[in-house]
Amino acid sequence: MAGGLKLPYPETVRLVKVMCSGRVDPQMVLKAFREGADGVMILGCHPGDCHYKEGNYFAQNRAYLLAELLSQYGIEPGRFRLDWVSAGEGERFAKVVTEMHDQVAALGPLSLHLRRCEEAAS
Ligand code: FES
Repeated sequence: MAGGLKLPYPETVRLVKVMCSGRVDPQMVLKAFREGADGVMILGCHPGDCHYKEGNYFAQNRAYLLAELLSQYGIEPGRFRLDWVSAGEGERFAKVVTEMHDQVAALGPLSLHLRRCEEAAS
């Protein structure tokens, strides 16, 4: 919806579309950080609205564990976020993505040293 309405959001944001937030494997998040992302955000349908019924609940449970894992690698909590935005909420999409972008920008680039630690652990 945000694209259709031509709502602005930061140009550095890269979208990876999946069928459901429940399809986001934690390895995808780790790969994004390893390959240069300074922050990763998973957006899913609001609780109770998942087309696959429980996908967003699975995503939420994984996100808790993933946030803990990321902190052990020294990746600040502000670099990872799970939030709920339905396909029809273009304005909300632009708002939360811009918030995340600004938060990550304030943290600065993710240290390459941290990426090497993650690679060594995998
Ligand atoms: S379809 Fe599952 S979170 Fe949207």
